[in-house]
Amino acid sequence: MANKENDIILTMTGVVKTFPGVKALDDVSIQVRRGSVHGIVGENGAGKSTLMKILSGVYTKDKGTIIFDGETIETTTPHQAMQRGLSIIYQELNLVNTMTAGENIYLGRFSEVNGMKGTHQKAREALDRIGSDIDTWTLVQDLSVSRKQMVEIAKALSFDSKLIIMDEPSSSLTQDEMKALAKIINQLRSEGISVIYISHKLDEIFDFCDTVTVMRDGKVIDTRPVEEFTRMDMISMMVGRSIEKEFPERPRKVSTPLMEVEGIKTKKLHDISFTLNKGEILGLVGLVGAGRTEIVRALFGADKIKAGTIKLDGEVVAIRNPRDAMKRGISFVPEDRKQQGLILPFSVENNISIATLKNLYKFGILDKNKERQIAEKHIKTLKIKTPTARTAVESLSGGNQQKCIIGRWMEIQPRILIMDEPTRGIDVGAKYEIYLLMKDIVENGGSVILISSELPEVLNMSNRVLTVCDGRINGEFDPEKASVDEIMAKALGVSVEGAMA
Ligand SMILES: Nc1ncnc2c1ncn2[C@@H]1O[C@H](COP(=O)(O)OP(=O)(O)OP(=O)(O)O)[C@@H](O)[C@H]1O
Ligand SMILES: [Mg+2]
Repeated sequence: MANKENDIILTMTGVVKTFPGVKALDDVSIQVRRGSVHGIVGENGAGKSTLMKILSGVYTKDKGTIIFDGETIETTTPHQAMQRGLSIIYQELNLVNTMTAGENIYLGRFSEVNGMKGTHQKAREALDRIGSDIDTWTLVQDLSVSRKQMVEIAKALSFDSKLIIMDEPSSSLTQDEMKALAKIINQLRSEGISVIYISHKLDEIFDFCDTVTVMRDGKVIDTRPVEEFTRMDMISMMVGRSIEKEFPERPRKVSTPLMEVEGIKTKKLHDISFTLNKGEILGLVGLVGAGRTEIVRALFGADKIKAGTIKLDGEVVAIRNPRDAMKRGISFVPEDRKQQGLILPFSVENNISIATLKNLYKFGILDKNKERQIAEKHIKTLKIKTPTARTAVESLSGGNQQKCIIGRWMEIQPRILIMDEPTRGIDVGAKYEIYLLMKDIVENGGSVILISSELPEVLNMSNRVLTVCDGRINGEFDPEKASVDEIMAKALGVSVEGAMA
């Protein structure tokens, strides 16, 4: 039996980190056992990523001690940390887009693996180990977000690591990739490798982790074995007040048609027809890649339509580009908000106001006060954690960056709000706020199209659900009557018994 000291891979004690205007970590202590999967949960901006970046040498701590694998670590660089056996999969992916997947995995280590040929060979092994079929010669820029994430995971595993940190690794993985990840985590645990697992998806925390630390406002609130938490305790500890429910009452104001879509065809879509009613939240369910995003991109004028019509209030309209869509009161919160939405060096207020900027000019001069007021309003309702409205978006936590984009599209006061994975990376408290915003739109006669891989969210908030499979709408359900299995089977294109439909 190993003695207790040997049993611990990592001890962090009294860690403090301050950024201008923010105490990101306030006397944080945490201990991780060997072979343990240790979850860290907490609201957006609680300090999870900062703690991990101190560990991996991206940031330096102001105070505190770190003992890793029996050795006290004073200062470290990301490279040294990896050499010591600590690797990290960052929340914001960290790959070189213009290089191949294989090169990214062995970046800076080509000589260790015998040049380019060895690089691709070893990278292949690393990807096989996690059950991924990504071609090592594909340029990273041509990979989907979920595949990029798999490359990151393969890279972390390719080091001989004793502790692997996964900071929201699953935020955009497909179901199959998720299963592969679950297997990898179990395998690591059985090899005695420790994992720190950060996620806003509590199901995963309960499935994977044996110990969980809850953080709030830069402090550790508690660390317990996972079985000593209920879901509601965990949520209440995260938000600092007691929480009874995760979803508001479903809105019930569905009336007449607002948008009628008939026979839409694009490169990926076949004959898409459906009606969106006033006062309705319409959910689109399907696997990643099934065509959900393509449907809403076509409605928003972001993809070229080859055939079909769109009617608004009974009249055929031409939506040739996003500008046409926005003129007609359609807003779109895209899935890949980092790439399609945020201007990182710009301030929170600039990022929020950018879509409505033209309303903010008076006699050709930008009304800065008005811009500030608008930003403050969204900072308040969405609880965006930022020192000021002038702070650059790049210094906010991942989830708070997301909230800025949501604020931007809410500011348009859309008639039709399209949201693609709106709560990805967003903490439970703020999720609730986003549900309330959706509800507000439909209760004022607008409509919402909601795409989400979080089934409970779609099923609890939508009035109607369409399933999307292989570029087609293949089913329509009343989420209050249909079972989850029925809906999922349709989305997967199989019958409930599992036979092909
Ligand atoms: N480079 C930075 N400069 C200034 N402030 C920062 C920086 N990095 C983080 N912060 C601040 O530190 C606090 C903690 O952020 P952190 O990224 O650790 O949160 P998190 O718990 O990972 O949140 P999320 O769930 O949104 O990813 C936030 O208030 C954030 O704005
Ligand atoms: Mg984070």
